[in-house]
Amino acid sequence: MFKTVPVVLALLMGAGISSTAVASSDPIGEKLYRSSCMVCHTTGAANAPRLGNKAAWAPLIEQGMDSMLDVAIKGKGGMPPRGGAMKADDNEIRAAIEYMVSKSQ
Ligand code: HEC
Repeated sequence: MFKTVPVVLALLMGAGISSTAVASSDPIGEKLYRSSCMVCHTTGAANAPRLGNKAAWAPLIEQGMDSMLDVAIKGKGGMPPRGGAMKADDNEIRAAIEYMVSKSQ
């Protein structure tokens, strides 16, 4: 658990700079990620695939965006439907996934 603290801090501090460097990252996705998804996907809480954990994301990316989006919308295990962001529409959820994927390959 302690090990994750510097990573979280580094992400928070670096996010502002790095977001402009990644062409594929969508500001809407990053915003939703930070408000709704980060709480689990930065720490790996409840076994969530962590942002930047290539090994965890590779098999999901292989299954494709439609599959990831479907799981994210319906929920699975510790992943609540829409990641708990009930007001986010499908496009916003997709953008948040694209953001996570862009940081995890
Ligand atoms: C309460 C914690 C939590 C929150 C908040 C959360 N997730 Fe997750 N997420 C998980 C867990 C746990 C898994 C792993 C589920 C499993 O495979 O059993 C997961 C898995 C996923 C996956 C992989 C789906 C697949 O194909 O198996 C995606 C994509 C995802 N989350 C997107 C999101 C997005 C987008 C948000 C924010 C809108 C979000 N999550 C918020 C816990 C969370």
